[in-house]
Amino acid sequence: MQRVLVINAKGGCGKTTIATNLACAWACSGYRAALLDYDPQASAMRWLSLRSDERPAIHGVAVYRRPAGGQTSTWLHRLPPGTERVVMDVPAGVTGTRLLEYTRRADVVLVPVLPSPIDIHAASRFIQDLLLEAKVRQTRVRVGVVANRTRENTRIFQALQRFLASLELPLVTQLRDTQNYVHAAERGIGIHEMWDSRAGRDKCQWVSLMDWLEQSSDSGHGDASRLTG
Ligand SMILES: Nc1ncnc2c1ncn2[C@@H]1O[C@H](COP(=O)(O)OP(=O)(O)O)[C@@H](O)[C@H]1O
Ligand SMILES: [Mg+2]
Repeated sequence: MQRVLVINAKGGCGKTTIATNLACAWACSGYRAALLDYDPQASAMRWLSLRSDERPAIHGVAVYRRPAGGQTSTWLHRLPPGTERVVMDVPAGVTGTRLLEYTRRADVVLVPVLPSPIDIHAASRFIQDLLLEAKVRQTRVRVGVVANRTRENTRIFQALQRFLASLELPLVTQLRDTQNYVHAAERGIGIHEMWDSRAGRDKCQWVSLMDWLEQSSDSGHGDASRLTG
């Protein structure tokens, strides 16, 4: 099993968009995929509720839903046997111990970053937290950055590339700013399920991300019981 955590301190950078599209890409490739929603805003679960039963199945888990008393109800969070790929969508603003708890459940951490000065600055701090507080470098977790909603190759974008290079972190892909993601979100589908010729460019942008994830898929001997506690 491979478990991918999509996380950044900031809201609105594309965590849910990437998590849902990733789950969808896996499901379309024939993997048994699960989407775990840790965010009480429940955007990933809402997306899944819009998804037609005729589409490749994605198992959704509303992890944010806790029974009275605050304990995790394990029956709610059990994954179907044979689950091969898990993506975790989490809320913004996760720091400290909570960050550590999330990264412990993951084999791969994907950090979406918007190419604006404020976002790049916030993301840089977040990545430093990941490396220092969550100590992901000292574990088997791989970290990659996804530049989201990119337009032209702007100067600020080059600054992000330099920052990542200095930390030896890969910029796994860039996803352009397009209404295709908005339309897909409204229909409970992913970019990989859009046959409109305009989505072709977007599918291409996912290839390097999917390849990068595949490179690490064999190393992750995920323990499902660690996903929800
Ligand atoms: N590449 C993109 N192009 C256009 N719109 C996008 C893109 N990525 C995200 N969005 C839109 O930006 C908004 C915030 O994205 P979302 O994935 O919900 O962020 P987060 O989960 O980090 O808060 C949503 O309305 C989403 O449809
Ligand atoms: Mg979200």
